[in-house]
Amino acid sequence: MAKTILLLSLVALTFSCLAFAFEPSPLQDFCVADTTSPARVNGLACKDPMMVQASDFSFSGLHIPGNTSNAVGFGAKAVNVVQVPGLNTLGISLVRLDYAPWGINPPHTHPRASEILTVIEGSLEVGFVTSNPENRLISKVLQKGDVFVFPVGLVHFQRNVGHGNAFAIAALSSQNPGVITIANAVFGSKAPIASDLLAKAFQVDKKIVEQIQWKF
Ligand SMILES: *[C@@H]1O[C@H](CO)[C@@H](O)[C@H](O)[C@H]1NC(C)=O
Repeated sequence: MAKTILLLSLVALTFSCLAFAFEPSPLQDFCVADTTSPARVNGLACKDPMMVQASDFSFSGLHIPGNTSNAVGFGAKAVNVVQVPGLNTLGISLVRLDYAPWGINPPHTHPRASEILTVIEGSLEVGFVTSNPENRLISKVLQKGDVFVFPVGLVHFQRNVGHGNAFAIAALSSQNPGVITIANAVFGSKAPIASDLLAKAFQVDKKIVEQIQWKF
């Protein structure tokens, strides 16, 4: 009997851990983020439901392209819980991605979300890399109307390979997906990671590492 209870507890624990690996299902109609609350919870504290307005669930301006005047020729406009407090606890968000000719969204990961992207205009080369030890590159060239999925946590990228500008819309399975841009995190951390450590990790001369670090 005791053994059965222990086993059942272990099973219950395993399943509750699985369930909490991602955003929990809401326990009410909504929990509009109260950004003024000092309460620290997983997510954001709820506004009084009586004070909730349509504007808490709304955003305007996604028809306006993001600014691509930068070194990588890429601009993103996020619509997550920061822009739309009504997304709190709902486990979804949106982003508009703009690419100058040959612009790239550099290799990055979303620690808390899978992503589904569709090309609205232009042509994009997209890809993600599977985890160790295979590190297999899964990539494809997308045309207008094509859709591609980037599984949660995996390093992925896009590049504009068409003529002229490109743009895409992507949905993500978190109110706050987070972005870790690999180059920025590795070479642009504050304070910097020791250059001799990175030289060993990347199997190059320390001078090359310092050169890259200097760019970030
Ligand atoms: C786009 O970004 C660049 C670089 O930060 C800036 O100089 C420029 O004014 C921005 N353009 C617009 C339209 O906001």
